[in-house]
Amino acid sequence: MIINHQQNQQVITLAIESSCDETSVSILKNGRNVLTNIIASQIEQHQKFGGVVPEVASRKHIENINQVIDQALKEAEMSFEDITHVAVTYGPGLVGALLVGLSAAKAISFARGIPLNGVNHIEGHIYANFIEHKELEPPFISLIVSGGHTHLIYMKDYGEYEVLGRTRDDAAGEAFDKVARALGLNYPGGPEIDRLSNIGNKQAISFPKASLEQGSYDFSFSGLKSAVLNYLNSEKMKGNTINTADVAASFQQSVIEVLTEKTIACAKEKEVKTVVLAGGVAANSGLRKLLEEKCIESGLELKYPSIKLCTDNAAMIGCVGYYDYIKGLKSDMHLNAVPNLKLGQRY
Ligand code: KG4
Ligand code: ZN
Repeated sequence: MIINHQQNQQVITLAIESSCDETSVSILKNGRNVLTNIIASQIEQHQKFGGVVPEVASRKHIENINQVIDQALKEAEMSFEDITHVAVTYGPGLVGALLVGLSAAKAISFARGIPLNGVNHIEGHIYANFIEHKELEPPFISLIVSGGHTHLIYMKDYGEYEVLGRTRDDAAGEAFDKVARALGLNYPGGPEIDRLSNIGNKQAISFPKASLEQGSYDFSFSGLKSAVLNYLNSEKMKGNTINTADVAASFQQSVIEVLTEKTIACAKEKEVKTVVLAGGVAANSGLRKLLEEKCIESGLELKYPSIKLCTDNAAMIGCVGYYDYIKGLKSDMHLNAVPNLKLGQRY
């Protein structure tokens, strides 16, 4: 489906994302033109616990949401009267956190009498690429790697997906965060491991590759995570000093090699020309570099979003909401949070 934006009347979307630890509100014109994208991060609140505490997240969203909406309107130099459409994440995510964004979105839609679209968060990560790359159109293969998800999908058209592979245990970002914690690094661990990997030796320790049976595009990261924990314990017991940068670099290499290998294999199988990277782990400099190299070798084009659009944000949610809306899809006041919402599933 090629969308000609000129043919459509102007749609001004106010989008809300609150599925985890970021309260974000964005205002977009015709889905891909971001007027503002405010992200209020709760990282500081969760850092002392070493991960996201769901109750703390919900409370912080409640404290932040109205201010973030006001700030977004102010930055876009708009009022509620200028908004013609509302989009909101309704899953997957933390139920209490999702409900805060949903309530705000429903209130705006109801009070203004404007259409509402519930959006799948994973789909949002893919669509971040449509904002960044105005010329990008499906079909393509997308690798979505975040704190909660690891998916390899074939996107045939807007809203049409075939899931080719997924994680069977930990998500890639989750593995980064858990290994970082064991290394005594701050939450979120992905950026810390990324930074250390640039100074460490990626060949220092040979960790197992997270590969499964031949031909499967699924991932498994829990074995690799356990291997790192076992290595750390055994080195400590032997009284050896641990080189944190080498462990980080060797672990990261294991993760990015398997992600890259399977992504390229999927692109070849589906005979697409483009590979699209998405999700928080898409910010990883090692993954971007390796995937880029392998894509070039295979004659594929690689697209990824800027760092701000890789991690959770409302602009990507607004982009999905816009395409759903112009397709004729609409949610109503019964829209509820679906914590384990799957890609391609609708409620
Ligand atoms: O997409 P996201 O913001 O939230 C979820 O939907 O989960 O992803 C957050 C995840 C965290 O696990 C974080 O450690 C990871 O993305 N992450 C990274 C990097 N930046 C964020 N992982 C590896 N390298 C990075 N540079
Ligand atoms: Zn996310």
